[in-house]
Amino acid sequence: MAEEQTLSIIKPDAVGDNHIGAIVARFEEAGLKVVALKMLQLTRAQAEGFYAEHEGRPFFPSLVEFMMSGPVCVQVLQGDNAIVRNRELMGATNPEEAEAGTIRADFATAVSANAVHGSDSPESAAREIDYFFNSQEIYPR
Ligand code: TYD
Ligand code: MG
Repeated sequence: MAEEQTLSIIKPDAVGDNHIGAIVARFEEAGLKVVALKMLQLTRAQAEGFYAEHEGRPFFPSLVEFMMSGPVCVQVLQGDNAIVRNRELMGATNPEEAEAGTIRADFATAVSANAVHGSDSPESAAREIDYFFNSQEIYPR
């Protein structure tokens, strides 16, 4: 398997519910290394730009409002097959469909408040990591 990096966001619901540590522990216990980490509150422009692929979809306005509603914690995770591994740890977008033991099954409350984001492809990982971090803020190891 190839060593990869992926972008993870702990969303405002999970930060507000005090689950930062529990979620980061899932990544570390699965062998993904946190090689960059910061907390920030997204502006409207940052939230819209991050989710630009979904512009025009019915849930886009509420998604943007939700992502601005409180601080988020953004991470770069590194490891073998990290992009797919992170998506597996996250579980399905809708927590009602997420497999038991996944982050969304355990910490999300609705499809619109689903605890975490994870890059879905190598192309989106590259774009999303660059969206939040410069190279000096990432510590590969
Ligand atoms: P999407 O990229 O399809 O899901 P994922 O986060 O699993 O990659 O959608 C982005 C976010 O948009 C999703 O995490 C939550 C929100 N969303 C809704 O609120 N309603 C929906 O019907 C969908 C598909 C997504
Ligand atoms: Mg997505």
